[in-house]
Amino acid sequence: MPVNRPSVVVILAAGEGKRMRSATPKVLHSVAGRSLVGHVIEAASTLEPLHLVVVVGHGRDLVIEHVNEIAPWAITVVQEEQRGTGHAVRVALDELDVRGVDLASGPVVVLTGDTPLLTGSTLVALMTDHSSASASATVLTAQLADPTGYGRVIRDASGAVHRIVEHKDASLNELDVTEVNSGMYAFAADALRLMLGRVTTDNAQAEEYLTDVVGLLRADDRPVAASMCADDAEILGVNDRHQLAQAAAIMRDRINARWMRDGVAILDSATTWLDVDVEIEPDARILPNSTLRGPTSVAAGASIGPGSTLISCEVGADASVIHTWAELAVIGARASIGPFTYLRPGTVLGDDSKAGAYVEIKNSTVGNGSKVPHLSYVGDAEIGIGSNIGASTVFVNYDGVAKHRTVVGDHVRIGSDTMLVAPVTIGDGAYTAAGSVITDDVPPGAMAVGRARQRNILEWVLRRRPGTASAASAAAATTSSSPAQMNAANEAQEDR
Ligand code: UD1
Ligand code: CA
Repeated sequence: MPVNRPSVVVILAAGEGKRMRSATPKVLHSVAGRSLVGHVIEAASTLEPLHLVVVVGHGRDLVIEHVNEIAPWAITVVQEEQRGTGHAVRVALDELDVRGVDLASGPVVVLTGDTPLLTGSTLVALMTDHSSASASATVLTAQLADPTGYGRVIRDASGAVHRIVEHKDASLNELDVTEVNSGMYAFAADALRLMLGRVTTDNAQAEEYLTDVVGLLRADDRPVAASMCADDAEILGVNDRHQLAQAAAIMRDRINARWMRDGVAILDSATTWLDVDVEIEPDARILPNSTLRGPTSVAAGASIGPGSTLISCEVGADASVIHTWAELAVIGARASIGPFTYLRPGTVLGDDSKAGAYVEIKNSTVGNGSKVPHLSYVGDAEIGIGSNIGASTVFVNYDGVAKHRTVVGDHVRIGSDTMLVAPVTIGDGAYTAAGSVITDDVPPGAMAVGRARQRNILEWVLRRRPGTASAASAAAATTSSSPAQMNAANEAQEDR
């Protein structure tokens, strides 16, 4: 169990987030595939709190639904009106009282829902500092080159935290202070309760400031400590789209650095975006402009990109996935995908298989060693092992109302430009002639020809297009070739 396990972590997330200018509640915006509040919950989980409370207000239906989904053990508490951070914590503690939760067992930790870069280790340091100072409150602080907008940490002559003053309430001297309040704290529960009862709204924003608890504790001669965060990015609160992008870039670099340490080759970290749930084995290579989203996994030796986006995909060892967009697809070991390949949900490509340029595959299985090399659409199909699908083949799966399945056996050769009109089955070892429209099942080993026979209307161009360059070329060619050659050409045609 971690040191000083909190009785509760309260995450404040009731604010509107106006500056995002978004229909989505602020804390539901995401960074690296996880919501802002999800990141905070993840960091808080490191402390193994006995209870986790998320205070919601604006957009509460969506926020509650999301929290229930990602952290079903969390308690959501509604703050009807946003009357300040102190009020929000009061509402949370009141709800815990109603539920009969005992807070005596450990500190109360307060976090904000919009700080996605916060880490569990910083919270562990906060708990350690809080406990070693035997403080009534410990404020997580940071030194910022530009402290604009943040509450300032005002220390007394002895260097102890004296109070916190909000930017809007600060004097000119106080505005010069560069140590800021992160908005995150550990409190002794009884001290917090007592002082929340004394907080007033006598300030520039007419709100109940949680920060006032610090000054009230000191006025009551209770010890307040500060835990200074070494990496000031950790306290970066996302208030607008610009800060969201900044947070995403910092998170991207952190995630990439971790995978590189673990042996993954990332050629261009600035253009490689990996979600938090991605898993990559050593010696995999992620080439520039690639994005791996959701629970995508990449096995050892596989090479992704340049320019690939994989959403919830599984890539086997030593596979290559160049310039591909894929979602919910499974790619086998040593498979070769791309460039310009579109793999849609339900695609399962076997080991040593291929899906080449301008190929789209959906809801289909391509067996080990089978290839769809060029310009084809494969939908609702099952292809066996060792088969080849010729260029420009279309699995015609939709009759305008319903989708139908196509089955292609093992070691089949589908000729170029074949239309496989589903439902249809091509037996093992069968062939189809190029340009065929296949509407009936093909038995194993058969050659299916489903196209009109070619006929050549001799000298048509000479008669019907006289005086053209084509006619002149044709005339030159026919006079130079002997009648015997012409007959041979005609006979060859009979055979096809
Ligand atoms: C707060 C701190 C400030 C600190 C800064 C760090 C106060 C008074 N000030 O300021 O010292 O430097 O955070 O980012 O606490 N919230 C509620 N209910 C409310 C009001 C706020 O849930 O009634 C939530 C917000 O959704 C947000 C968090 O509390 O997640 C902080 O509120 P915000 O209004 O952003 O406070 P700041 O002005 O940034
Ligand atoms: Ca804020």
